[in-house]
Amino acid sequence: MALAADEVLAIGSQTFPLIQKQLRPPDYKPPLYRAKKVPRKNTNYRVTGGNIAAIDFGTTSVSLAYTTKGDDNVNIFILDAQEKAARDTNAVLFKRKEKAISVKAFGNTARSQFTTMKKAESYDQENIYFERIKMILKREENVDRQTLVESFSGEKFYLIEVIAFILQYLKDQLIDHLSRSAIPLKTTDFDWVITVPAIWDARGKGMMREAAYMAGLLTESKRISEFTPISSSPLPVPDEVNPDKLSLALEPEVAALYSQKMIAEQIKRQPSAAAISHPTEYMVIDAGGGTIDITAHVEVDGGIVVQNVPIGNAWGGTQVNEEFSKLLQEIVSDPGFEKFIASGDCTKNHATLNKIVYTEFEKQKVLFGQGKIEEIAVELPRIFLRFYEEALIEGVEKMSGTDYNPDENDTLYIDESVVESKLFGPAIQGIIDCTVAAVDKINNCPSTFYLVGAFGGCKYVHEKVSAALESYYQSKGHTDTCSVLIPPTPHLAVATGAAMWRKNPEKFKARRADATYGIGVSDTFNPEKHNEAYKYYNEDQKEYKCDYIFSIFLEKGELAKADEVVTETFFPRYLGDTRMRIRIYSTPDFGIQYYTDEKKEVFLPTIGELVINIPNPDNMPLIQQIVDVTIDVSGTEIQAKACYRVTGKEVKIVCDFLST
Ligand SMILES: Nc1ncnc2c1ncn2[C@@H]1O[C@H](COP(=O)(O)OP(=O)(O)OP(=O)(O)O)[C@@H](O)[C@H]1O
Ligand SMILES: [Mg+2]
Repeated sequence: MALAADEVLAIGSQTFPLIQKQLRPPDYKPPLYRAKKVPRKNTNYRVTGGNIAAIDFGTTSVSLAYTTKGDDNVNIFILDAQEKAARDTNAVLFKRKEKAISVKAFGNTARSQFTTMKKAESYDQENIYFERIKMILKREENVDRQTLVESFSGEKFYLIEVIAFILQYLKDQLIDHLSRSAIPLKTTDFDWVITVPAIWDARGKGMMREAAYMAGLLTESKRISEFTPISSSPLPVPDEVNPDKLSLALEPEVAALYSQKMIAEQIKRQPSAAAISHPTEYMVIDAGGGTIDITAHVEVDGGIVVQNVPIGNAWGGTQVNEEFSKLLQEIVSDPGFEKFIASGDCTKNHATLNKIVYTEFEKQKVLFGQGKIEEIAVELPRIFLRFYEEALIEGVEKMSGTDYNPDENDTLYIDESVVESKLFGPAIQGIIDCTVAAVDKINNCPSTFYLVGAFGGCKYVHEKVSAALESYYQSKGHTDTCSVLIPPTPHLAVATGAAMWRKNPEKFKARRADATYGIGVSDTFNPEKHNEAYKYYNEDQKEYKCDYIFSIFLEKGELAKADEVVTETFFPRYLGDTRMRIRIYSTPDFGIQYYTDEKKEVFLPTIGELVINIPNPDNMPLIQQIVDVTIDVSGTEIQAKACYRVTGKEVKIVCDFLST
């Protein structure tokens, strides 16, 4: 059942190894069973009506790109009208009136309204404020519908509902804008795209999909207008209405489409001045606020093969802010600013600290990143200085490279050397290490790297990362140089690329699986093949069987082809069953043949469940109630379709990644 190490996928003149040999351990054991692969039949699959809206829901910022039928261009929606900025901070201020919740302000406006609120207002029950909530999706390994997020006042809410409110707000902005145009378009006229890091697992993706259902992104009627009170009973699975109208795009993949198009246009305009020819093999490094996310692509015959398992880490730009926060805590000798937070209105103090780290320091960080300043000067608010005055004076004395003089002004100065080594240093090293690890796992080091995301796209990060990659590239024996390129608007690469991608998702011909996926099956016991520990006697079928077998759809590192799906056949366990539930297991490890240990304890993580409705369960004997399930693992999410064999009709199937 192992794929032979030399099997390849041939596209045009190029071949790609089906498996990534480097990933297999020396004592590699092949899987016992594999689901059957068949060509995908539905031809009008993922075809768009032409109206596309794409939301880049980033850790620090969001952006919205759209295109309408007949328009070849992608437009960027101006989210922050005041600043005329396309990208706005991912911050939201809610207004609560009894149970009803509405968005009072979003983005930079929300942040400044919240920060400048009078003490009594921030205390009261009416205002609920959140920032950077996407961080939770990365940190918590097992996010689900019950995952909670704390507002700045310390009140808890369901994360999925906060995300849903933000998505709904963004959708409303776009639809409201378009309602006044010559061709008014409704929500359901659009194919929606939400972007997610390529390194996310099925749960994170499931969260965004379900939040979109709650937000009414795919219907005209549904809206979210209340937060569900926290309780021990689980939030219900939302109704899946028009699931095909939503796609999840992988951030570095779509940023690549944008980068390639822009670079091609630049080269075409001035071919003689171009530093490179159009690259066909390149790596994309999306360095955002919370995530580093890397994919390696090869273009052949107009298609793209993603030749690595996406790799990444959490060394995004917010780490620089966090390092600054740590430095400040060290200067004032107050770990976690605990004394300050406890010294008065805790919400207000929390907001003050957030303003220092994410507004005042942020402005300086951006200028430093652009190469416009050499020293960082952070103006500290009066309430902070009043509390820490003495500690601050003493602290800067002890820490070289920092300065504060209350007789001059309210500003803390940090020297270039400290900014480089302590603040930016760890994040930049995180990007370099991750990129080198990505290159080491593919056969050939590409000579072109795209650096996208607002953090990756700044001058300082580019300088440091390109110098490191250059020397790494040459250490691999290359005599030429490599190019680390930034496309024209690196912070909008993901949103713009996502709308481009939705026009033709089939451009991606194959991707490598990030883990091994499969389901549990049983089979007639075969002593030569099976482990005695899993043997049992089946009374109905009058034979010994082997249970708990892990039958895989895809093995980690295997290329999943876009035109191929896997199929499995199921029938209900008991007559009269109206529903079948099939668990999907996933593992980053190789050599797993059974999904339980020998004591029959399930040890493989369940990443989701296929819930299949069975029509007319009483009408036929069990054995005839066959359901053919087609599972598509080639796309950006696991998707499944089920067909009742006797009637040939499709039956409803829900891929639930958040209940198990
Ligand atoms: N000129 C600059 N110099 C340094 N850092 C910058 C500069 N401009 C933006 N950044 C940083 O880039 C980060 C935001 O990048 P981006 O908008 O790509 O992230 P995101 O999409 O919100 O997050 P993610 O993709 O990780 O979910 C922030 O940490 C911000 O401070
Ligand atoms: Mg991003």
